[in-house]
Amino acid sequence: MLYAGVDLGTSAVKLLLMDGEGKIRKIVSREYPLYFPHPGWSEQKPEDWYAMTVDGLKELLADSDKSELAGISFGGQMHGLVILDDQDQVIRPAILWNDGRTTKETAYLNEVIGKETLSKYTANIAFTGFTAPKILWVKENEPENFARIAKIMLPKDYLAYRLSGVHCTDVSDASGMLLFDVKNRCWSKEMLDICGVKEEMMAKIYESYEVVGTLLPDVAAELGVSTDVKVIAGAGDNAAAAVGTGTVGDGRCNISLGTSGTIFISSEKFGVDKFNALHAFAHADGHYHLMGCMLSAASCNKWWMDEIIGTKDYAAEQKQIEKLGENHVYFLPYLMGERSPHNDPNARATFIGMTMDTTRADMTQAVLEGVAFALRDSLEVARALGIHIERTKICGGGAKSPLWKKIIANVMNLKVDVIESEEGPALGGAILAAVGCGEFASVEDAAQKLVKIIDTVEPDPELVEKYEARYQQFRQIYPTCKELFPKIL
Ligand code: XUL
Repeated sequence: MLYAGVDLGTSAVKLLLMDGEGKIRKIVSREYPLYFPHPGWSEQKPEDWYAMTVDGLKELLADSDKSELAGISFGGQMHGLVILDDQDQVIRPAILWNDGRTTKETAYLNEVIGKETLSKYTANIAFTGFTAPKILWVKENEPENFARIAKIMLPKDYLAYRLSGVHCTDVSDASGMLLFDVKNRCWSKEMLDICGVKEEMMAKIYESYEVVGTLLPDVAAELGVSTDVKVIAGAGDNAAAAVGTGTVGDGRCNISLGTSGTIFISSEKFGVDKFNALHAFAHADGHYHLMGCMLSAASCNKWWMDEIIGTKDYAAEQKQIEKLGENHVYFLPYLMGERSPHNDPNARATFIGMTMDTTRADMTQAVLEGVAFALRDSLEVARALGIHIERTKICGGGAKSPLWKKIIANVMNLKVDVIESEEGPALGGAILAAVGCGEFASVEDAAQKLVKIIDTVEPDPELVEKYEARYQQFRQIYPTCKELFPKIL
């Protein structure tokens, strides 16, 4: 049988077709626009997501036996607010995970409702990108839109709804709304009250590998497949990527270098860190995970390459980087403000340390290193909790660079396991579809059978020492600039 995984990303939707043996048959992608209507705001049109997904699915299935398609599932950009009216029409563009407009609402939640209370109800505190502050923003700034809300959804759940007609979500993605009681895997009535939202506006909750329904007849006809094709709930893109990299069960780690950068630690038990610096979310394997999320990761390199130095040849630029651990230029990667661990939408990107002999290669190197240092900030929070991590998987666009993997391994002092397919969330989505259709006994069983490590990048003790000194310098830059950032907005 065949399984389709849909990774609803920020710049594109990526679709992957996998067979029951885990062999990837085909990958296609479709881009859609990202809108920045104000500095720091970030929006997309849910209708674009759906149109591009259907278009992509057609190409994905074009040269396969369509009767073999058994299930479709998802990994989706998290936290985005999609609101529908009572006719199930989209009310306004979706407000995305990297949108920073909710400073006031986030401060209200953290300071007036209080971090302790939020953590008690949801296991998390408020961050500007989370969904609950966005609901409060719409309530305050667009009351006419707020009054029309009949359904509140997350991005990938809008796709599941259009494909199956079911208003559904899954535990991992719901965790990032700040409306969900993560420990007990149900909506938090208290948080719904705080946001002025009725429970009937919320989607039905599923485990990520559960079947929510089958394809609607008109969708099945358009795709040329059976109405028996199952739609499986899927997961937030980080949990889906963790499934795709085999980061399931207890104490495993995955780093994702996509538009965002995340460090994801799976756990069999529920746990929250005292300062809520890491997100405590439900995992797609039926258990839990901790996660640090930086808002701009591979996107920093893309910005530097495409917008600033104007090249598409990333490999050629990286080839000129020779002296690892000796760069005097530092880069703070806060192009969209920062989430973990600073929780500061006003933070900004910065180059510092240049001299007349600084080269273009030093600057490129600083960008790659800055992302690695900022990820290490989240790793340090996990280490301070007593979590011992020795190795990690890696996925996302940035993981295609051997140099970046080497920098990560040495900055973080982790063994980086390279897996056969770095298609994290799309593969994770296909695996969840296969589990939902009964091809595997569980997510862990599927991950164990399907995910293969093909190489390991070992940290080099000498380089680790050099990077340790540089990291200690890097971590002084943000506190020094912090007070300045709001003044230069
Ligand atoms: C995770 C987060 C991002 C998005 C990117 O908390 O906000 O990783 O899911 O798509």
